[in-house]
Amino acid sequence: MSESAASSEFEDAFHKAAERHERVWVFVAVLMLTLLLAGTMFLVVYAYGVVVRTAGFRRDPAAIEAPEGSIAKTGPNAYTVTIVARLWRWSPSPLRIPKGATVTFRVTSADVLHGFAIQGTTVNVTAVPGITGSVSYTFNRSGTFNIVCNEYCGLEHQGMLGRIVVEGDPA
Ligand code: CUA
Repeated sequence: MSESAASSEFEDAFHKAAERHERVWVFVAVLMLTLLLAGTMFLVVYAYGVVVRTAGFRRDPAAIEAPEGSIAKTGPNAYTVTIVARLWRWSPSPLRIPKGATVTFRVTSADVLHGFAIQGTTVNVTAVPGITGSVSYTFNRSGTFNIVCNEYCGLEHQGMLGRIVVEGDPA
């Protein structure tokens, strides 16, 4: 039948065109994904740097020799606290500071890698033996903050907790 021949001719033309469109759009999609991947890698390498920023980390033999953490007052309401991590505790803990205190944490480890993180804050520093990592934080809210270890460090890793008590205004 001429009708079925015409319809099949139309279908052939349609499929040919559709295949062409399909190829074009598959190519466009692959090109977009490639550009996205290359662009992301470029951005990661050149804009952010692949290597973790280490400006806050430095070698400090005194820090590893510190048997326990220490607190030093460095200003009206500023403190420098040396945090020593070891299997499986933090020192000093509990750490008592007044509300509004700006604390510079100098974090190191006496044995293996630990992760020093204070819940509810942006403080998160890896505790590395022989190296001191620094981070500052201002405690504007009184209450108890938990220090957790977020780097697996053995049997009691999950129990490696510390406390920071931020005491309210004396008034
Ligand atoms: Cu210390 Cu996990």
